[in-house]
Amino acid sequence: MTEPTARRQPNPYRPGFNQAPVVFAGRGEVLDAANEALDVAALDGRTPRPVVLVGPRGVGKTVTLGEISQLAAQRSWPTVHVEARAGSLVAELGDRLRAARNLFDGREPAASSRRRTRITGAKVEASVLGIGGGIEIERAADDRESEQRGGLGAELRGVMRAATAQGSGLLLALDELQNASSAELHELGAVLQEHVADAWPLVVVIAALPSFRGKRGGRMPTYLERAEWHALEGLAAPDAREALLGPAEQSGRPMTDGAADALLALAGGYPYAIQVAGHFAWRASHGAKTITEQHAAAAAPRIGADLDQLFLSRWEDASPREREYLAALAEAEILHSEPHGGQVAAVLGQRVSAVSYLRDRLIKKGTIYRDGAGGLRFITPGMGDWVRRGTRSR
Ligand SMILES: Nc1ncnc2c1ncn2[C@@H]1O[C@H](COP(=O)(O)OP(=O)(O)OP(=O)(O)O)[C@@H](O)[C@H]1O
Ligand SMILES: [Mg+2]
Repeated sequence: MTEPTARRQPNPYRPGFNQAPVVFAGRGEVLDAANEALDVAALDGRTPRPVVLVGPRGVGKTVTLGEISQLAAQRSWPTVHVEARAGSLVAELGDRLRAARNLFDGREPAASSRRRTRITGAKVEASVLGIGGGIEIERAADDRESEQRGGLGAELRGVMRAATAQGSGLLLALDELQNASSAELHELGAVLQEHVADAWPLVVVIAALPSFRGKRGGRMPTYLERAEWHALEGLAAPDAREALLGPAEQSGRPMTDGAADALLALAGGYPYAIQVAGHFAWRASHGAKTITEQHAAAAAPRIGADLDQLFLSRWEDASPREREYLAALAEAEILHSEPHGGQVAAVLGQRVSAVSYLRDRLIKKGTIYRDGAGGLRFITPGMGDWVRRGTRSR
């Protein structure tokens, strides 16, 4: 039993979406690319190519944007972060750019009304730009000042002038960009493309689901053609281990290697699942000095139940044909440890070319991926097992 006096230690895992992990592991290549873009913009006086992160849900796109925002903050650059929702991207971006300009100018933000706007990285800006506190800009729902003043281009020009006057720059982080309409992408692409020649200290980082690759829409593709694309996938084994071990270690309740092996067998390199596994193992080890294999075993049903929910939503999101493909992949996993497309097609009794569109759709949705050796795998390891159990019980 736990001693009544034992102090409750907060759980250091973050099993949710958009929640910065205590230990951010891996992604060195992306952070290097972002650092280089910031250097090019800050030191070389050129506007660098945009950096685009695409990857399935829960792989860490948003928290990677957050890390990049920290890199910008180290240079005293604020971040304007916008999460695209259908139809409101341009208006929200306009608001936030204006708010950023006010921040640079040291002006009180225009106060009035209901809709809230947020600029991240405010703490750093506060010390640099002499403005205290969190930055919350309010805007009337019907405020269309942005359009009256000449739209996105004018807002961007305004904020970049103000930034340059301060010897600073701006990180523009656009999340969930697959939600933006073609018209919005067109407008955004045109404005950003137009100002490349101005050599503004502006770094644009975009995050989106893999379906974004197929987006067509006016000039955004032209702008994106010169972008540096990074596909975010599961973490490599050493990084996954670091993501799992790090938070426990830092919180004074280290995890044994045996416990880590057992938990990683459940989570693979899928960042969301690693946080889930750590979270329940931490909870199961309350009052203990280390997290052991026994704690991992005790936590396994809870971890399994959590991930089952995820598998169920992926399954429900799949069409009947896609489900057949998933079931075939799950069977092929038993026959071959890393089945390739041909082996899955064989289970279906079809030619590869006849079912490759299903494979591609499931890769785009982030349900399966192709590993470095060309084998097909479920993004979260236990899904094959889950599908087999379900297929048999149907
Ligand atoms: N590099 C990492 N190291 C450790 N944990 C991570 C890492 N990347 C992501 N995570 C964890 O994974 C979870 C999902 O991260 P995040 O919300 O950023 O994913 P996402 O790709 O933006 O998903 P969505 O497409 O649903 O928005 C969070 O719990 C986060 O803490
Ligand atoms: Mg996200």
